[in-house]
Amino acid sequence: MLVRCFDLNDLTPVFDLACSELRERYTPSLFVNLHHYWPEGFIVIEDLGTVQGFILGVMVSNIQARILMLAVRGDRRRRGYGTLLFHRFCAECAKKGVRYITLEVRESNMSAILFYEKMGFQSVGEIKRYYTDGEHAHKMHFFL
Ligand SMILES: CC(C)(COP(=O)(O)OP(=O)(O)OC[C@H]1O[C@@H](n2cnc3c(N)ncnc32)[C@H](O)[C@@H]1OP(=O)(O)O)[C@@H](O)C(=O)NCCC(=O)NCCS
Repeated sequence: MLVRCFDLNDLTPVFDLACSELRERYTPSLFVNLHHYWPEGFIVIEDLGTVQGFILGVMVSNIQARILMLAVRGDRRRRGYGTLLFHRFCAECAKKGVRYITLEVRESNMSAILFYEKMGFQSVGEIKRYYTDGEHAHKMHFFL
């Protein structure tokens, strides 16, 4: 198993994963653009030669990073892959001097909320109708 930075050869499997595991819709060019913006904040986990999950974040300020996407293939969950991705992301954040990480998660996405709480995130509020289908988001913070 390998945790490494995204490269452009991963675009198709990562895009397919985003389409199958996430509810918001994205274009392939978004992944390319965000990769250029902060390459170390875009991390994949590979097993048996296949990308099984990824995490994608951006720097919001000198001290704040934001997780935009995190997904692990459905049949590979609860094996610690999400934890490995998040810990690598934290390590990259620490190198940049990040002090805290933020994210938004759907109110109905209990598995992700429980995952983030296990990682040490705290819920800091709600954003009404944050998602395109009108669902509210929990805003969560993690302090390094
Ligand atoms: C959230 C997600 C990335 C977690 O990935 P994962 O590889 O399954 O996570 P891990 O195996 O590292 O889980 C670590 C811990 O988080 C908690 N956790 C993870 N999934 C959970 C679930 N479905 N129910 C309860 N707790 C859960 C558990 O405490 C788990 O430890 P344990 O398995 O020893 O009990 C994965 O469920 C996923 O891809 N979900 C769909 C996409 C998504 O919702 N992304 C987040 C959008 S904001």
